[in-house]
Amino acid sequence: MDILKYKNYDALSEAVALQMVNQIISKPDTVFCLASGNTPLKAYEYFVEKVKKETIDYSRCVFFGLDEWIGISPDDTGSCHYFLTKNVFEPLGIANENIYLFDGLSKNPEAECDRISRAIEKNGIDLIIVGIGMNGHIGFNEPGALIGNNVQIVALDSVTQTVGQKYFDKPMLLKKGMTIALRSFLDAKKALLIANGSKKASIIQQTIEGEISITVPSTIIQLHKNASVMIDYEAAACLIN
Ligand code: F6R
Repeated sequence: MDILKYKNYDALSEAVALQMVNQIISKPDTVFCLASGNTPLKAYEYFVEKVKKETIDYSRCVFFGLDEWIGISPDDTGSCHYFLTKNVFEPLGIANENIYLFDGLSKNPEAECDRISRAIEKNGIDLIIVGIGMNGHIGFNEPGALIGNNVQIVALDSVTQTVGQKYFDKPMLLKKGMTIALRSFLDAKKALLIANGSKKASIIQQTIEGEISITVPSTIIQLHKNASVMIDYEAAACLIN
């Protein structure tokens, strides 16, 4: 596992975007799996800007969304669906057949997870980009998550239910989610875990230097064969080594 440190959020975001662009250059049919949330926002902005400016051919790339809140409409500005559509897919005009997003309003979330799971089995994931929750979650793989499945339905931790309110303009009931699971994270050919800001410093220290334990799901990145943790100096502040 590489630890890559950047002086601030902007430098971190530019480096993440560059990795995404280079990934497409080396494999034009790259399968991405992308997190939503505040952390990757600027990286996606830079990514969109770079691929357009450098006229990179991304028409054969496939994109998976990392997770979704169950019960939240794809049109809700707080949904992962909306976030990735507005910040990546629409600006790049990605074809629908190259996009796999969970439908938070699906009447049958199990079938929805099966659909995404089959697509992962068919395509494989080349590059997965994840943020990290204050409780160490990756996607919606909360403390105590199962590792066995590709995709799963999860009961959201109380920390996630509370912190998740920041994405919505009014209070929301956030009880359950669908997520690409830790098995798929470990199987992805390359994984990037990104974090910025001092509020992530303690969980980043545990992730990198703590014992591997499912009580802090992000520690399983230590088992990944090809992973980088990309953080700004503030998020790196509690690292001992
Ligand atoms: C979002 C996701 C979450 C976030 C994490 C950090 O798709 O999977 O695990 O990455 O909660 O969120 P931010 O980046 O908003 O701090």
